[in-house]
Amino acid sequence: MLNPAEEDAYDLRALDLALAATPFVGRVRFFPTIHSTNVLAMREAEDGAPEGNVYLADEQTAGKGRGAHGWNSASGVGLYVSILLRPLVAPADILWLSLAAGLAVRNAVRQVTSIEADIRWPNDLLFGRKKFCGILTELNAEVTRVRHAVVGIGINVHQESFPGELNAIASSLRIETGRSWARQDLLIALLQSLYREAQALSAETAGAAASILSRLEGASSWIRGKHVQVDESGGYSGVTAGLDSRGFLQVRTPDGLRTVHSGGVRALG
Ligand code: BTN
Repeated sequence: MLNPAEEDAYDLRALDLALAATPFVGRVRFFPTIHSTNVLAMREAEDGAPEGNVYLADEQTAGKGRGAHGWNSASGVGLYVSILLRPLVAPADILWLSLAAGLAVRNAVRQVTSIEADIRWPNDLLFGRKKFCGILTELNAEVTRVRHAVVGIGINVHQESFPGELNAIASSLRIETGRSWARQDLLIALLQSLYREAQALSAETAGAAASILSRLEGASSWIRGKHVQVDESGGYSGVTAGLDSRGFLQVRTPDGLRTVHSGGVRALG
């Protein structure tokens, strides 16, 4: 925890020490301001940058969200980070990595703040109905082989309010707990946790996927029994009914079981 007068700066040397047992050691680059850490990470990955590169920013001027959305990335108040991975998984299994990233953030937040977040499929992190973390996983793959994946994570940490319409739907660790938390502590816990998840998936995908599925069932109120609106295929509603064998959300509707592909689900009622 930070005391109120303390500035929340990153200490890259301490970060390296804490990451000694991971592939991220010596690979964290910090940008006081950048357009988007995901865009740079994808560009460098294409040019052959190694697995384990971490792109960390204090501010993003063009933070990317899922779909056509942006990510509000004001200076100094959030954790904005992208991680370059080259997992040994089939492209069809890459959703498990994205789901595992949500579990890794949840784990990091619990480790640092002791509070338990909800996960809205696929990997939004919520306190109640308000979102405080979003994850954008981007992929470059052949049909049978993932060349690289970039996991981009934005966590609202110090915000006390949000601009315009965001105020009604967004939260932060500060708003939720009334305290300030060091982004460095969150980042260390997050990278350690994400490393374990990615390693497990590369080592034995089926076993790791089964573990992710069972942990998600315990960590998310959205996987089963939630009445939701799905904003794809013209829009439909139904009750969530678990994940399929690739990690996609199933929704029971009056017309039968449907699979959510886009990731846009909203709670009804
Ligand atoms: C979402 O829409 O929920 C995903 C938001 C992902 C935001 C993060 S912040 C770090 C990384 N860089 C980006 O431009 N986006 C991701």
